[in-house]
Amino acid sequence: MKRLTVPAILNRKGKEPLVMLTAYTVRMAQLLDPHCDILLVGDSLGQVIYGFPSTLQVTLDMMCAHGAAVVRGSYHSLVVIDMPFGSYEGSPEQAFASASRVMAETGAAAIKMEGGEAMAPTVAFLTARGIPVMGHIGLTPQAVNALGGYGARGRSNAEHAKIVADARAIADAGAFAIVAEGIIEPLARTVTAEVSCPVIGIGASADCDGQVLVTEDMLGMFERTPRFVKKFDDLAGRISAAVETYAADVRSRTFPGPEQTYQPKS
Ligand code: KIV
Ligand code: NA
Repeated sequence: MKRLTVPAILNRKGKEPLVMLTAYTVRMAQLLDPHCDILLVGDSLGQVIYGFPSTLQVTLDMMCAHGAAVVRGSYHSLVVIDMPFGSYEGSPEQAFASASRVMAETGAAAIKMEGGEAMAPTVAFLTARGIPVMGHIGLTPQAVNALGGYGARGRSNAEHAKIVADARAIADAGAFAIVAEGIIEPLARTVTAEVSCPVIGIGASADCDGQVLVTEDMLGMFERTPRFVKKFDDLAGRISAAVETYAADVRSRTFPGPEQTYQPKS
């Protein structure tokens, strides 16, 4: 199967919903790839893989290393790499230098960046130079210090209007898709109807053009997750149970057994 392209994703607007999940490692990419349209190497790896308190400490080196692993582990899904905080906001030129490095080092076909109207010129600059950009509006976690937390957005009229304007600006600048995160449902529907590129929701609405979640969240790896996460499994519980059994087998000397040991040839 040929890898999905950016134009193929753009063409899915208003059609079958896009399936997107995060991946940071090769084995997870291999497992997700057959079921997904897009694999996002999210800067959420800061919390999920590295134990940082937010995404702000994530570096371009980390995104390149994990992005290359996910590209190696997939052949069907479009791989999109998050631009980390501080690597693109300074100027369109800075964004181009960072994004072109990410694409060259990983082999991914697209990058994602947070931001609304203020980032529109950068989205246009990169798009015009062959770098497909996915936008990210609403609750933008890299702006946690400015926003004051991770609460849902768009409840006031002013915030509602601002988020619609952000989505329009990023779409008009040429983004091939936009992640809409943590916004009230009617606003998610409005944004989806207002822009011509696919809008991929997370904590948004089933009426978006697709959905994304952090894979470890939806697999039940964490105790505390945002309200918008549906847990499709309880991997934390299953891992604990398996490790508990292993520990007991080691302590009782029932592991390794005859199948796991080598004997001299008779
Ligand atoms: O970093 C990330 O995982 C993301 C998704 C949650 C959209 O940006
Ligand atoms: Na992100």
